[in-house]
Amino acid sequence: MIGNTLQIGLAGLGTVGTGVFETLNRNHDILEARAQISYAVRRIAVRDATRPRDTDVPRELLTEDWHDLTNDPDIDIIIELIGGTNEAYHLIKAALEAGKPVVTGNKALLARHGGELFRLSRSKGTPLYFEASVGGGIPIVQSLQHSLVCNRVQSVAGILNGTSNYVLTSMQQKGISFAEALKRAQEKGYAEADPSFDVNGWDAAHKALVLAMLAYGTLPPSECMTVSGIENVEAEDFRFADMLGYTIKLMAIIRHHAAYGQEPECLELRVQASLVPKEHMLAHVNGVFNAIAVRGDVVGETIFYGRGAGRQPTASAVIADVVLAMRECKLQGYHTGFLPYTKDIPVMPIQETETPCYVRFLVQDRPGVIACVSAAFAERGVGISAINSTTGSEDRFGVRWNHLVIMLHSCKWGDLRAAIAECTKRSFIHPYPVVLRIENFTN
Ligand code: HSE
Repeated sequence: MIGNTLQIGLAGLGTVGTGVFETLNRNHDILEARAQISYAVRRIAVRDATRPRDTDVPRELLTEDWHDLTNDPDIDIIIELIGGTNEAYHLIKAALEAGKPVVTGNKALLARHGGELFRLSRSKGTPLYFEASVGGGIPIVQSLQHSLVCNRVQSVAGILNGTSNYVLTSMQQKGISFAEALKRAQEKGYAEADPSFDVNGWDAAHKALVLAMLAYGTLPPSECMTVSGIENVEAEDFRFADMLGYTIKLMAIIRHHAAYGQEPECLELRVQASLVPKEHMLAHVNGVFNAIAVRGDVVGETIFYGRGAGRQPTASAVIADVVLAMRECKLQGYHTGFLPYTKDIPVMPIQETETPCYVRFLVQDRPGVIACVSAAFAERGVGISAINSTTGSEDRFGVRWNHLVIMLHSCKWGDLRAAIAECTKRSFIHPYPVVLRIENFTN
């Protein structure tokens, strides 16, 4: 604090950092009026202070050493936007140890080191804010922490990755392949240079862990999650999905099982490509948008929708936290730090999770194939609700392979995988069918 002016240290001046710096300047008047406190950006830590930037930043604000922020006794609040899980971890730790509240959007870091950092935050009485870690500009974190505070959360279902949603939307609307859709996303600057975490489900998984922590007070290790992406979804699947009344989304599912207070309780926690009924609102979340459906015992179903990434939307979330931090700095001692660990809730083994499912096999066009597939499901008590098939193409030996789509009633994932393993032992069934969950969002 210098005089009555609260001092902010900003670490990172990339896409989001630039948006935060610009907005803190542009909307200075309303932010000071709403926070009822004056503020200034005192120091900005960047990797290369000489690099040309697309915003005007006084050179004297820049430093290439983030310790200049954590060691500066005049800096009151630190915003961490450098990303990654190494340097950002040390920075946040140093800031909390120095008693400086931290604002971050770093979901990968929270998923990995959240337990330790929140305990440190609590022990130091120094808050760690993370609105921007899930859903970009969607105000989901503060909503779960404050607005929905009286609810026992029954489930959270989210479209949490904008890049994969853009790819799936392009495949659906333009009938193009995964590779072509991903290329277009990269050309438009939506996908990262390395889009692996976007399309393999892990970016969404890190966000799902943050949501699980908010909704249930537990932060399970990420290895407990079942995570798969959208790489195997093909244009053919969209044709079948459309015909059956669905679209395809990468869904993060967090669902509480067993009544509160009763044992054993557990959490379903997974990210998988899924069929979503066309009549559900989540089916209409297109392009780079994200949406999160929260079902609470008091409020019922709520849906939060908005831009899940990008300079301005993410800056909006970061600054919401900065204002909260400023208000709480003013009321010294008010905030004791968020602590997620109310209890450890085990993650339900994926084999036990149940939904209806869609399976698309590639099968040789010969007698007995459907009998073989249906016997494998029947033996494991998995009921078939519909079968559909389209003619495929001939391979280089002149053998015709067809698409065989089996819609299954709600069944355990373990039984489904066992039946599929049985089917794919046969030479006339391709070893890698496309398997999609069907989410109806009824609980
Ligand atoms: N790359 C992410 C997305 C945003 O495409 O949604 C940052 O988590």
